[in-house]
Amino acid sequence: MKKAFARVLFFMVAALLLSAPQAVQAKEFSGDLEIFSWWAGDEGPALQALIDIYKKQNPKVNVINATVTGGSGVNAKAVLKTRMLGGEPPDSFQVHAGQELIGTWVKADRMEDLTPLFKEQGWMDVFPEGLIKLIGTEDGIWSVPVNIHRSNVMWYTPANLKKWGVEAPKTWDEFFAIAPKLKAAGVTPLALAQNWTANHLWESVALASLGPDKWDALWNGELSFDSPEVVKAWELFGKVLQYTNADASSLSWQQATDMVIDGRAAFNIMGDWAAGYMATTKKLVPGEGFGFMASPGTNGEFMFLADSFGLPKGAPNRDNAIAWLKVLGSKEGSDAFNPLKGSISARTDSDLSKYNGYLQATAADFGKDRVVGSLAHGVAANETFMGGFASVMEMFLKTKNAPAAAKACAQLAKKAGI
Ligand code: GAL
Repeated sequence: MKKAFARVLFFMVAALLLSAPQAVQAKEFSGDLEIFSWWAGDEGPALQALIDIYKKQNPKVNVINATVTGGSGVNAKAVLKTRMLGGEPPDSFQVHAGQELIGTWVKADRMEDLTPLFKEQGWMDVFPEGLIKLIGTEDGIWSVPVNIHRSNVMWYTPANLKKWGVEAPKTWDEFFAIAPKLKAAGVTPLALAQNWTANHLWESVALASLGPDKWDALWNGELSFDSPEVVKAWELFGKVLQYTNADASSLSWQQATDMVIDGRAAFNIMGDWAAGYMATTKKLVPGEGFGFMASPGTNGEFMFLADSFGLPKGAPNRDNAIAWLKVLGSKEGSDAFNPLKGSISARTDSDLSKYNGYLQATAADFGKDRVVGSLAHGVAANETFMGGFASVMEMFLKTKNAPAAAKACAQLAKKAGI
């Protein structure tokens, strides 16, 4: 009797053990998944590629693709803040690796630690150590990176430059030498859009003026924001602004890119989502339909940023969100998303044959250039600094007062804890 019972028990346990992995694999999620980002319109196709993979794996989940338009998250971040503080977080939201994540949401204790997920998925070995540091603290890892974007890129149309008899400038002095000629021909030398793109331009100009060591020194508190070097960077920026379009503040970044494509402007400095826009939306071939180079004075330097998604505490559909994060961190997800987005994979094992010429060249640069963090896109400073910097920029665009801007930034840095 005892023996028979033991045998039955043995078979029951064995059956349970054998069926367990299948049961886990077959777990089907249902309900909603709300993903919050600013990737609307032209920035949508890459995100959609990730959603398509997710839907294939989780057909019963209703994906709510909640986007708030406005490049660099100008509007989305404000909406997110209201929701997070109001206790209504989305299931997962877009956030930049670096201080935007750590100095804002992690500091406020609003995020879940994803270390177990990183270990389970083997991500500790496929994401670069430096990047994991930027999304981590002593207490955990706080988001899943989906890409590496480059901020310091100058875009142009090769055929147009040929027509105007100019070459893409490698330094700001070279730019100032050709800009009057372009202006005289009725061409805007440098296309600019709404105010956040001025922040974007500023970081490229400041990097050229300060060099990478002093750029880094600004953010670790070793170089003060009102030092003569930084005043000089603001002065150079003021000079560059003289060659931009007067209607900048009413244009989206895509419209500034269009000016270059249409031949109304010669150059534009924008992150490489512009390459995504020109290749994916405008169907232009890199190197032919559009040209690119490091922004003047920054050759050999790679100002980077990374988009990532996190899991806020209190996410209404936590399991669905974790399944979403798994897609984001996967090789399949990454190599479907990035070629459309105009970014390179954050993973070190991506399949470069899926990427166009621009992205292959960028991946090579990322491997050999001096890498520094972007201010305009969340790496270098937290939201307190960024919010104040936008006001400093507004003031500067009106007054062009370099010492005043430098002084205001120094006060801001104190407030933001830099
Ligand atoms: C950046 C973001 C990019 C792109 C860009 C323009 O902040 O990291 O992925 O969306 O804004 O909207």
